[in-house]
Amino acid sequence: MLNKLTNLTKTKKVTTENFELDLSRVPSHIAVIMDGNGRWARKRGLPRIAGHREGMKVVRKVVKRANELGVKALTMYAFSTENWKRPKPEVEFIMKLPEQFLMAYLPELIEENVRVRIMGEKEGIPSYTLKAVNEAMDRTKDNDGLILNFALNYGSRYEITSGVRQLAKEIEQGKIKSDDVTEEVIGSYMMSKEVGDPELLIRTSGEMRLSNFMLWQLAYTELWFTDVYWPDFSASDLDKAIYDFQNRGRRFGGV
Ligand code: IPE
Ligand code: IPE
Ligand code: MG
Repeated sequence: MLNKLTNLTKTKKVTTENFELDLSRVPSHIAVIMDGNGRWARKRGLPRIAGHREGMKVVRKVVKRANELGVKALTMYAFSTENWKRPKPEVEFIMKLPEQFLMAYLPELIEENVRVRIMGEKEGIPSYTLKAVNEAMDRTKDNDGLILNFALNYGSRYEITSGVRQLAKEIEQGKIKSDDVTEEVIGSYMMSKEVGDPELLIRTSGEMRLSNFMLWQLAYTELWFTDVYWPDFSASDLDKAIYDFQNRGRRFGGV
């Protein structure tokens, strides 16, 4: 691993311990399903929340590395619309993490020109969490570096349903004609409209499913899975995912 990563984007390639990354072909939008916090904790005889706490620190490391490599957007799945099924104390703990994360790291994120965003259903998210996220969004709104997009209380079917409902309303009102509904139009009703479709999806912990994450947006995304639990995920795991991405043939249905 390179320890000094200054001026990375000025050089075309970066050589890490095992592989060489082409900095001109780094995926511009990476989405991450951060999974395995609970199992990481259980393996250590700790409560599940210890895994969530540790996982929060990894978000910071991954953002830093992605920013160094020139990634433009990172969408991090932090809490799904299905995660309300978990025990109340665990849900409460997870919902306090955005505030803690921002309290600890917002100054650094500002310094690194990161723009914080949120994607998900606001209703249901505790007010102190929304307050922290809104403040972070406001304080970073003029930054034009990496977009750190938290999927919080996010579910893809919910997103599609509310987008379609809104579109149907506008058709009823005569604001848009049904014949004018294209794929681009539908995309613009998705919560991801600012960041667009990910080029690479990473899921940790060995699970090979999407768990209601970005179903519309992942149509042609490269999927990358690792057995590593999220709290153990490192900057070099991110490098590895990007390296594998760079060695895949993307055809989009062509030849
Ligand atoms: C991911 O880790 C974090 C959230 C879903 C909020 P989990 O809590 O799902 O960990 P496992 O899958 O039970 O190990
Ligand atoms: C997906 O992980 C949600 C997040 C990472 C926030 P889950 O742990 O909730 O997914 P399932 O239940 O294993 O599908
Ligand atoms: Mg899980």
